[in-house]
Amino acid sequence: MASEKITRVGVIGAGQMGAGIAEVCARAHTDVLVYEATRELAAAGRARILRSLDRGVSSGKLTEREREQASWRLRFTSDLGDFADRQLVCEAIVEDEEVKTEIFRALDKVITDPNAVLSSNTSSIPIMKLGMATEHAERVVGMHFFNPVPVLPLVELVTTLMTSPEVAERAENFAHDVLGKQVIRSADRSGFIVNALLVPYLLSGIRMVESGFATVEDIDKGMVLGCAHPMGPLKLTDLVGLDTVKAIADKMYEEFKEPLYSPPPLLLRMVEAGRLGKKSGHGFYQYPETTK
Ligand code: NAI
Repeated sequence: MASEKITRVGVIGAGQMGAGIAEVCARAHTDVLVYEATRELAAAGRARILRSLDRGVSSGKLTEREREQASWRLRFTSDLGDFADRQLVCEAIVEDEEVKTEIFRALDKVITDPNAVLSSNTSSIPIMKLGMATEHAERVVGMHFFNPVPVLPLVELVTTLMTSPEVAERAENFAHDVLGKQVIRSADRSGFIVNALLVPYLLSGIRMVESGFATVEDIDKGMVLGCAHPMGPLKLTDLVGLDTVKAIADKMYEEFKEPLYSPPPLLLRMVEAGRLGKKSGHGFYQYPETTK
């Protein structure tokens, strides 16, 4: 397989993760096309990336010139047809199997490069399910980034029974050589490596709150001061997004049928109430500064 250097990337979704992935790709000098379903969502996504680039400048990680250049490399569209020339697509929309499957089916028809890589940032949907929605399952992998993408250096690379070794290598080289990420490889099991360990821990924290065992603040303080974690499980659940944690837990429970993966009722009620964490301004904590 000819391994032309990847210089044209597509990102599907400009929520927390899509915006982060688009930003790191643009900062790494690739041309980035971002999909959002509507102009309003695209404008919000662009604003999210620009705010993050601004933070990069104020913290001294980026120069003004680098910020400018990164912003010029970003374009937005609401038409998947515009992705025809993309060499790598990173899908990062809502953790919903049907929505993702539909996007993979559509992208597969549009992308013309026979060496293109189609990747998903899913946390818990088996990659095989997305691959089999396409006619080229060999070009589908999981590239699972971590939040916030510009800060955390890890990518989990997930290959399926169908992924070609060349595609896996191309994805790994891009993540490592171009984006400067550390890559670990996982089998195609819901949750992969990190969430298989992390999600039961987050759910245990929520169960502790639910049972009145301890306060949100004390649980978080316990893990920060007692285990040197950068933040406790409730604050981390707020950062990930309660809707996303619930969707991941549902998928992992569907796969393994282990009670430790099943979302506790308090999580369900908070999602129903729209308390989605940092992104909605209210979760286990309040975030008055959140710009939606
Ligand atoms: P988010 O809620 O910030 O963004 C969701 C995105 O999906 C937005 O771009 C939204 O416009 C789009 N979307 C929602 N419904 C849609 C629909 N019906 N059709 C098309 N687009 C739709 O979510 P976030 O946190 O960015 O998560 C996205 C993906 O990344 C999920 O698969 C999640 O599991 C994964 N992920 C999330 C992490 C986190 O910490 N939040 C970490 C690693 C992976």
